[in-house]
Amino acid sequence: MKFFIDTANLEQIREAQDLGILDGVTTNPSLMAKEGITGKNNILKHYVEICEIVSGDVSAEVVATDFEGIVKEGEELAELHERIVVKVPMIKEGVKAIKYFSDNHIKTNCTLVFSVGQALLAAKAGATYVSPFIGRLDDISTDGLDLIADIRQVYDNYGFETQILAASIRHTMHVVNCAKIGADVMTGPLSSIEGLLKHPLTDIGLEKFLEDAKKLNS
Ligand code: E4P
Repeated sequence: MKFFIDTANLEQIREAQDLGILDGVTTNPSLMAKEGITGKNNILKHYVEICEIVSGDVSAEVVATDFEGIVKEGEELAELHERIVVKVPMIKEGVKAIKYFSDNHIKTNCTLVFSVGQALLAAKAGATYVSPFIGRLDDISTDGLDLIADIRQVYDNYGFETQILAASIRHTMHVVNCAKIGADVMTGPLSSIEGLLKHPLTDIGLEKFLEDAKKLNS
């Protein structure tokens, strides 16, 4: 399972990278706005900075919603750095653009996916990644994990190579459950990754070992 961090915060990206287990980054316009990154040049510069920190794929989202606009914006983003993946919304024009990018060897991440049908279309169009938003489904009393399981089954039925990128992950158990189901990638906040470290028995056990180690030296 690949681990992506879902943020545009450089400090948090560096922290996850330093842990040695980071495989990539996802961003979206809301995450960029949260970091106060405004203006086209600053946004493009920020993507390049992220690419220079990590060694894996970095999703950069288009804001155009028409085919020509998505293609123009996506090509410009892809030119920035070899690690950029063009993030395209699951809309009709987006599906056409994903097919275009796939034919032109540009990696894509189909975002805002909330149903198996949408995931099927994204795979048919040749998306590199599909991003089902599990947390946002949970928010409206629908089990987001069921969607991951259903997409896994459909993709396996036909051998689609599109990677399931479980997105809108909110906590550590989302990560664990997505791993059980077989999501190819998870993207979530740093807290959802660092939460995996924690177990009270580890803390208690370590305290005891360190205490006993002192006796060995005395
Ligand atoms: C996906 O790539 C999105 O950036 C993200 O996971 C959305 O998460 P949210 O629902 O917590 O905003």
